[in-house]
Formats: sequence, C-alpha cells, structure tokens
Amino acid sequence: MLNFDYYNPTRIVFGKDSIARIDKLVPANARVLILYGGGSAERNGTLAEVEAALGARTLQRFGGIEPNPSYETLMGAVEQVRREKLDFLLAVGGGSVIDGTKFVAAAVNYAGEPWDILETSGKHVSQALPMGCVLTLPATGSEMNCLAVVTRKSLQAKLSFASPLVFPQFSVLDPVKTFTLPPRQIANGAVDAFVHVIEQYLTYPVNAPVQDRYAESLLQTLIEVGPQALATPEDYDVRANLMWSATQALNGLIGAGVPQDWATHMIGHEITVLYGLDHAQTLAIVLPQLLHLRRDAKRAKLLQFAARVWKLHSGSEDERIDAAIAQTRAFFESLGVKTSFSGYGIGAEAVDRIVAQLEAHGRTRLGEHRDIDLATSRRILEACL
Ligand code: NZQ
Ligand code: ZN
Repeated sequence: MLNFDYYNPTRIVFGKDSIARIDKLVPANARVLILYGGGSAERNGTLAEVEAALGARTLQRFGGIEPNPSYETLMGAVEQVRREKLDFLLAVGGGSVIDGTKFVAAAVNYAGEPWDILETSGKHVSQALPMGCVLTLPATGSEMNCLAVVTRKSLQAKLSFASPLVFPQFSVLDPVKTFTLPPRQIANGAVDAFVHVIEQYLTYPVNAPVQDRYAESLLQTLIEVGPQALATPEDYDVRANLMWSATQALNGLIGAGVPQDWATHMIGHEITVLYGLDHAQTLAIVLPQLLHLRRDAKRAKLLQFAARVWKLHSGSEDERIDAAIAQTRAFFESLGVKTSFSGYGIGAEAVDRIVAQLEAHGRTRLGEHRDIDLATSRRILEACL
C-alpha cells in the first residue's frame, strides 16, 4: 500500500426528512446565502423546505448556477456575498451547485483574481467561507470532498481545484429529494460514480485489499441499483443506496493508499467544454476505449475486475478483459448513456480539437503512470468515434 494522509471532516446527515436538521447545523447568527441551480429546487419545494428550516436567520438567494458551473455566473455570487456581508454558504443542488459554492467560498476573500484559484489548482487558497450542502443529485461526491470543477466559458477552460478549506461542514442527503430527477440525470449519476471508482481502482496492484474490495462493492452496488433507480423512481431504498454509493465513490476513502488514474476525466472535461456533453456522457465515451488501449498497463487489475465484478472466469486473459470492457459499456448503454461520439452526432473533426485543448491545458502526461501523452490520447479519441 502507498503512504497516505486521509482527512475528511464533512458531517453526513442522511435520510428522509433530514432537511429540518440544518437548523442545528448552521450557526444561529449566520447571514446565509442559499445557492441553487436553474430552478428544480424551487419547483419541487426543496428550497422552501430549506428556508423554513433556517427560520429567522438572514437569508438571501443566488439562483441560476448552470450545469458545469461557470466562473462568469459564480462571480455574481462572489459580488453578492461581498456586498451584503454574508458569512455562510448553503448549496442546494447537485455537483454543479456544490462545486460552484466551493469556488465562491474560496473566492470571496481571495487575494488576487479568483480565476487564479483554478489556474493554480487551489494551492494558494488560504481561507474560505464555511459552507453546507443539501444534495439533490447523487453523482459527483462533491458533497463529501474538497474538489470543485469550474468552467470559464470565455477561455473554453474547465479546470478543477482542491483545498481542505472547502470541505462542506455538513451535507444533508435525503433520498426523497432525488425522486424528481429526470432519468438522464439518474443515469448520469450512476455512470459518474462508477467511473470515479474505476479511476481509483483500475490501475495496478499495490496490495491494498481493503480499498480493492471496498471499490468492488461500490461497483457491484451501482450495477445493481442503477437500473432499479430508473425502473422504480420512487423506491426509497434504491435511491438511498444509489446516493450513499455515489458519495462513497469520491470521498477519498477508496483512493487513499492506491494509485489513481483520472485520464478519462481529464479528456472528458475537454469534450464538455467543446461540445456541451454532460460530464457522465463524456466518461461513458472515453472509459471503454481507454481501458482497451491501456490493457497491458492495467492487465492485473482488469483481470481482477473481470473476475470479481463481472464474474468472468473462462476464456483467455484477453478474452476476459474484452468481455469485462464490453459488459461495462453495455451497462452504460443499458442506462441510456451512449458510449461513442457518433451517438451524440460528433464526427472525426473532434479529435484534433480535443487534443489541442489537452495540450493547451497541460494535460499531456495523464494516467497512473503519467504516460498518456497527446499521441495516446489521440488514439483513445479515434477509437471513440
Ligand atoms: O439546475 P437545476 O434546475 O437544479 O437542474 C439540475 C441540472 O439541470 C438537475 N437537478 C438536480 N437535482 C434535481 C434536478 N432536477 C430535478 N430534481 C432534482 N432533485 O440536474 C441537472 C444536472 O445537475 P448538475 O449539478 O450539473 O449534475 P451533477 O451532479 O452531475 O454535477 C456535474 C458537475 O460536477 C462536476 C462535473 O464536472 C460537472 O461540472 N464534477 C465534480 C466533481 C467533484 N466536485 O468532486 C467530480 C466529478 O468528477 C465531476 O467532474
Ligand atoms: Zn466525475
């Protein structure tokens, strides 16, 4: 096992009717900014429930945070917090709202131009406003990690930052709040969480059986509950298990002490920025082809994945690897998430554009061995057509 330093201070309040608990979790004298997305939280009553729970506190709203939250929009919230002297941020939404809130938390008192936070991956963040979350979409794990991804539209850049200062103080996870999600977002969530596990699991063995078996249990649970969540949208237990799996997939635990890949994500961010595909759609396109091309570097773990997750025990090594990748792809497709560029009407010209973006953003040595150079990314992308 590799050395590691694991820290996670986020309190998780899980279950039906837990929104009322935020009254005890937000300081009584806080001046709160509630941040939310394009309106789903308003329409389905979650926002009203949050405001009722906060009682007499000073409350303001900032709505309109879009999927793949933009710097341009978020700077409006930064201005509002500064102008109105607000001191606590409450995100009500999915990964985009939570990531956007983390950026606002770090940007409000940042010395310098806040985009620098993304340019320097959060290295110079020395303070952040306290924040909490009410999660409405199980997918990213942002509710229990210290990462955020922000897009600057004018630069066509989707970059991430991390800082222990932006761990949410608490996150409320009420599975009932996910009942209103459209099928596309449920499918996206299952795919994103699945790929988060893969990025931390499917690399090379370092004798870390706890992390491996924990990762495998998350993958198996996602394979089981993903389709159920689509088939029976108001099944509380199914939504609860999907929600907890997605949180656990990227709260740092399964990635502690093991190598990590993240090439699929880095390539995926460039696809979203150029073509507007949902985050999970980009992962469903890239991951199967990346696994095909990287089969030698990942051979031992691919065989373990084939045997333990997909129960594939017969045939040659390469046949089992092929079958495991095919099953993974079929799983994404079964949820309704297409796994090739053509499925989204994107043609061969995309390859040059995406490679140029990777180069512009210094994403030239990706993967657990840092050996996915631009030529390898190009081969992966060509296979995705
Ligand atoms: O904006 P509203 O109207 O609220 O609608 C949203 C949005 O259109 C809707 N939605 C959310 N909860 C709902 C709901 N609709 C009905 N009922 C509900 N209960 O869902 C749509 C998508 O929301 P979004 O927050 O964009 O989705 P997701 O949670 O998948 O977040 C994606 C973002 O997270 C980043 C992605 O890159 C992307 O920008 N990621 C963040 C990570 C992290 N912080 O650790 C890691 C991930 O790998 C990922 O990169
Ligand atoms: Zn992701």
